[in-house]
Amino acid sequence: MLFRKKIVLGITGSIAAYKSALLARQLIKAGAEVRVIMTESAKDFITPLTLHTLTKNPVHNSFTVGQQGEWVNHVELGLWADAMVIAPASANTLGHCANGICESLLVAVYLSARCPVFFAPAMDVDMWHHPSTQRNIQLLKTYGNHIISPGTGELASGLIGEGRMSEPDEIVDYLEAFNSRVRLMKGKKVLVSAGPTIEPIDDVRFISNHSSGKMGYSIANELSSRGAEVTLVSGPVTNQKVRPEVKLIKVNTAEEMFKACIDEFPQTDAAILTAAVADFKPKNKVEGKIKKNNSSMIVDLEPNADILLELGKAKTEKQVLIGFALETSRGRENAEDKLKRKNLDFIVLNLFDETNQVFGSDLNRVEIGNSKGEWKSFNTKSKSEIAVDIIDELVEYLNHE
Ligand code: CTP
Repeated sequence: MLFRKKIVLGITGSIAAYKSALLARQLIKAGAEVRVIMTESAKDFITPLTLHTLTKNPVHNSFTVGQQGEWVNHVELGLWADAMVIAPASANTLGHCANGICESLLVAVYLSARCPVFFAPAMDVDMWHHPSTQRNIQLLKTYGNHIISPGTGELASGLIGEGRMSEPDEIVDYLEAFNSRVRLMKGKKVLVSAGPTIEPIDDVRFISNHSSGKMGYSIANELSSRGAEVTLVSGPVTNQKVRPEVKLIKVNTAEEMFKACIDEFPQTDAAILTAAVADFKPKNKVEGKIKKNNSSMIVDLEPNADILLELGKAKTEKQVLIGFALETSRGRENAEDKLKRKNLDFIVLNLFDETNQVFGSDLNRVEIGNSKGEWKSFNTKSKSEIAVDIIDELVEYLNHE
């Protein structure tokens, strides 16, 4: 399944770099074309000549190469790749990639790459467990990168513990499994709603909520990275980035979100509604700015349409509808009721407690229930990891129904 895939293999300074030659060979045997980038310290562990001979491509190490000192276009390399695999990924390179410290060609290509990026860390056990390494790993995951976890065993230092780079065949298996997940979503059309809506009281004031849009944007990006055609209908959010391939429809009010979702839904295979739609809106929006006076003020509210409910009514046999539920009590019971009432295939239950702030936080804990009454629980994870779990459920469903 790696046949004709273009892979940039990044090699950094770690004793595990000797395994990169085997990895390059296995990738080529699987049908991939491999171009290697090495950091300066990687060359202490394995020679560029070995990798050049195996891949039959020049090995890149600096921003300039060749007798004329030609420039290596890191953007071109980043765009060329279908996947970038950094194996071994040293603590140093993990830190540079996580924090955008662009002091090597490898990091420049990483920052320019639009393809999925896989890190196979390798280091000593205490370096691996150090909070700064773990924080960098979490950061990389929140950017949608994939971490191929190191194994446990005897390390170069003689210590025993976690930190051994995964074996080349495990890395190849990981890439193949990822590829088949991508293949299953390729070309599928998915609608995602995200963020809050804002409901104007007058020209300067509105009712809204704390939704950051992170969950919906993570889902849209994950779907898009798997080759799905994604339409994201988003309320106003800040600091959320969406891949350029995603069709982004920006809205403000629940009414605008409703219209955009109803228009888009018939063309889709699935819809995932994560938006925190305001349940009510001011009955009459006042033109201009309401002047304060000393008496109290009452804003008359009326309900907004329930977008999820309406999509549930419009849904055909072939379409899959996924909603979210934020429940403070009787979680599964209320969520199951919502799933039935809104004619959903899945419901994602946000488990809300004092330690787990859903809005604005990057971490969340969810359970996913389906229309057969089956539930799966997941650990507390970043929203981009939860996006992977949700889409894995969708893929399984789309391919078994
Ligand atoms: N939703 C929607 N349109 C609305 C309200 C909610 O599409 N007007 C969607 C949300 O995007 C989410 C799901 O419905 O996927 C759950 O919303 P929630 O507000 O938790 O559920 P309600 O049905 O409003 O129930 P309750 O207020 O009783 O919690």
